[in-house]
Amino acid sequence: MHCHHMIPALLLSTAPAAHAWGVLGHSTVAYVAQHYVTPSTANFVQAILGTAPDYMANVSSWPDTYRRTPEGEWSTQLHWIDANDAPPESCEVEYTRDCRPRAAKSTEAQLLDAIRFLIHFAGDIHQPLHTEALEEGGNGINITWDGKTANLHAIWDTQIPVKAAAGKNASEWAEEMVGLIENGKYNASGWLDATSLDDIKGTAMSWANDANDYVCTDVLPDGREAIEAEGVDLAGAYFEKHGEVTKELIARAGYRLGSFLNLIVDGPANGHWSDN
Ligand SMILES: *[C@@H]1O[C@H](CO)[C@@H](O)[C@H](O)[C@H]1NC(C)=O
Ligand SMILES: *[C@@H]1O[C@H](CO)[C@@H](O)[C@H](O)[C@H]1NC(C)=O
Ligand SMILES: *[C@@H]1O[C@H](CO)[C@@H](O)[C@H](O)[C@H]1NC(C)=O
Ligand SMILES: *[C@@H]1O[C@H](CO)[C@@H](O)[C@H](O)[C@H]1NC(C)=O
Ligand SMILES: [Zn+2]
Repeated sequence: MHCHHMIPALLLSTAPAAHAWGVLGHSTVAYVAQHYVTPSTANFVQAILGTAPDYMANVSSWPDTYRRTPEGEWSTQLHWIDANDAPPESCEVEYTRDCRPRAAKSTEAQLLDAIRFLIHFAGDIHQPLHTEALEEGGNGINITWDGKTANLHAIWDTQIPVKAAAGKNASEWAEEMVGLIENGKYNASGWLDATSLDDIKGTAMSWANDANDYVCTDVLPDGREAIEAEGVDLAGAYFEKHGEVTKELIARAGYRLGSFLNLIVDGPANGHWSDN
């Protein structure tokens, strides 16, 4: 197995912003991925994480706990990329400008951490504001959500996905997403185009750029003034217009995570790497 070289390389070569999807987002990513892993991949991952029905979902928020411990503090910056672009006019993540190179640690003993990081960061990198430098990924942009002051980053992590899930829990929401992929409502055929073990950096950058595009189209479509303005409540028209994208981004993250794990465990020649 060479996966323990691959996984940290993907993670550590990019530094995806502040929290991450909240617990719902991360667990849902994990359940979608659990659907798409092959039996051999599931065996491989379960040998590390245990065989509970929620084996991946169970560890999907661990890095957010770990980074708040003294021994995990080093990992804090891995949760985001500060793209120094100019939304809403121009959105782009550039590796040399926006990512800090990191030493990959990849001993056998760190395989557990590597898997837990991969499951979590595959989610983080699909949260548009984890790929944006403006006001620390929106943490410094105060807005109104449901009558209360909140920051833009936090609502994209948590409130927007929770509202979009409309009462579903992570496994139910994941099941809905798998249905949308399987029936073609979500067009997954291009989701793996730039995903390759031969170009981990390119893979991470393509996922990050994919999410970052939504900063221009959905997070700040009319600039920050439009959402900061007096009397604007983002749980209203803004949510109606832009909230659903979190669902597709979470679906995409899970699909990519499951497929990426298959690529690591089964290799590209094993037929699990075609569309859908
Ligand atoms: C993960 O599973 C273990 C063992 O079943 C359990 O003790 C733990 O609370 C779970 N953690 C989460 C975050 O669900
Ligand atoms: C945003 O709100 C926080 C408290 O919730 C406050 O400390 C901060 O000064 C506000 N920032 C701006 C730019 O208004
Ligand atoms: C989600 O809800 C369903 C239906 O109530 C329940 O069977 C399932 O255990 C729940 N899953 C999680 C992860 O909470
Ligand atoms: C689905 O995406 C692929 C690749 O991005 C594209 O070529 C194809 O036209 C899309 N299909 C539909 C039905 O939109
Ligand atoms: Zn995170």
